[in-house]
Amino acid sequence: MSEHLLKYNHFWLTPTHALKGTLLAQHHFSPHPSDLFLASLPKSGTTWLRSLMFSIINRHTFHITNHPLLTTNPHDCFPFLEAHVCANYTTTHLGDDSMFPSDNNLYATHIPFSLLPVSVKDHCKTVYVARDPKDVFISKWHFMSELRPKQLPPLTLEDALELFCDGVSHYGPYWNHALEYWKASLEHPEKVMFMKYEDIMREPSVQVKRLAHFMGQPFTEAEESDGEIEGIIRLCSFEHLSKLDVNTITSNPRAANFGVENKHFFRKGVVGDGKNKLSPQMIHRLDQITDQKLLATGLCF
Ligand code: A3P
Repeated sequence: MSEHLLKYNHFWLTPTHALKGTLLAQHHFSPHPSDLFLASLPKSGTTWLRSLMFSIINRHTFHITNHPLLTTNPHDCFPFLEAHVCANYTTTHLGDDSMFPSDNNLYATHIPFSLLPVSVKDHCKTVYVARDPKDVFISKWHFMSELRPKQLPPLTLEDALELFCDGVSHYGPYWNHALEYWKASLEHPEKVMFMKYEDIMREPSVQVKRLAHFMGQPFTEAEESDGEIEGIIRLCSFEHLSKLDVNTITSNPRAANFGVENKHFFRKGVVGDGKNKLSPQMIHRLDQITDQKLLATGLCF
């Protein structure tokens, strides 16, 4: 987590994890056409979408009372593409193997759309989740502050904002990452679906139905009237997942490899926390960049 970032094809990637994973995926990974991908920038709601997609696709296999998510962190339910290819195509094992890898056909990735393997873009469906950049920035700052090696001086909010606005953040620039997927979703809506964290928070049933439909697993009328959608929403809610033992424990393979514990994926889980932490000037700066980069494209937060 203290690894530096380097710029590759306009995006800032960690060399041994993100870049290596991206290149290995481009050259070696052959998805099955029915594989489904979840793409996101870190801190945009990946954990939430992982749990929702896993629950939707497996709803006929696992009952809600005996569900893997009760004992498994969402990040361990299906593979992270970059780590998966590093583990499978090199001798470096990054400890990200899923406990349920074979029959789910789900992968999560942070790879920018322009750097995704062509086979994924051509043959598979991808769900992208985006979040207000102010909330992403604050969530990321907390996350990085927790994981920053103690021997380094703390990263101030001001310095972190400077870097974020310059595009220097994991898989950033934020705006380019979101925009590439946004454009892909407009050009190929059958292949790429764009979701927003805020929309899921505001109208969870509508968005979960939309998600299931895109995934090719629409809810039947009987399932709807049986409360299947609400059950999945409750199972995957921040309030529920964040309190489970598995998500509060402090040791797992990720903690050993990267210092990331399961609890680090759950902080507040609300919309608008960025505004509570940022000064009016900081908010103005981020909003201004967002307007400049996104307004004309129709993407807004
Ligand atoms: P906050 O730091 O604002 O609380 P990611 O999963 O992409 O790393 O994003 C992490 C962010 O999503 C954190 O935001 C985290 O609290 C929030 N989050 C995690 N699980 C969630 C859930 N089930 N519902 C809503 N938000 C969730």
